[in-house]
Amino acid sequence: MNLNILATKQEVATVFSEYFAELVATNETLHIALSGGSTPKIVFDHLAETYTTAIDWSKVHLYWGDERCVPPEDDESNYKMTVTHLLQKVNIPEENIHRILGEENPTTEAIRYGKVLGSQLPLVANVPQFDLVILGMGDDGHTASIFPHEITLWDADDNCVVATHPDSGQQRVSITGKVINAAKEVAFLVTGTGKAPKVKAIVELGNETYPAALVAPISGQLHWFLDRDAASEIIS
Ligand code: 6PG
Repeated sequence: MNLNILATKQEVATVFSEYFAELVATNETLHIALSGGSTPKIVFDHLAETYTTAIDWSKVHLYWGDERCVPPEDDESNYKMTVTHLLQKVNIPEENIHRILGEENPTTEAIRYGKVLGSQLPLVANVPQFDLVILGMGDDGHTASIFPHEITLWDADDNCVVATHPDSGQQRVSITGKVINAAKEVAFLVTGTGKAPKVKAIVELGNETYPAALVAPISGQLHWFLDRDAASEIIS
């Protein structure tokens, strides 16, 4: 586990973007699963501001680790957030964008998207392998859209499942633990004091009642990009 603790959210965005740009530069094609959330938003803004030409976006295929079951123009949509903060600002071919169809029936879309991953990505032991999975972590220790109250979804046989937000009841399509842990690289983007107790519980104590604690890529390449606020309970 590689811990990167930076002073501010902006520095998290800067350092992660350097890591991301290096990954793109050293690969022919990259299949990357994106996350929603506030920290990815800051990262997307930085990538759009600083790496429009420094990254060859034609090498990058974008997918989502999870999506809310809403239409793509809905403010709740992770896809819409990515379009607003990144996709409309960089030159990435339309055919490289593989969004989860939030407007479709959740169950049929989870099956469809699972098949998309199975056909677009290389398979390792019959599991789709991303080059990079970007994850956030909720204040409750969820990641992607696997929430503590549905933690058994993590071990589903499927590539994708339908999850439900514990408070709003909003349905989500999410990739599962086997897909996350098959990735060559996994990067958590976690900032803010609200995350600090769970960062301690997960990073320091390995408390597996939280889905984010179950992220353990077989490749061993797990990176945490944290600001000092989120890391405040693990740094002495
Ligand atoms: C989502 C995200 C989710 C997010 C966490 C953290 O669809 O909401 O994929 O897993 O990463 O909720 O979000 P914040 O960084 O905004 O707290």
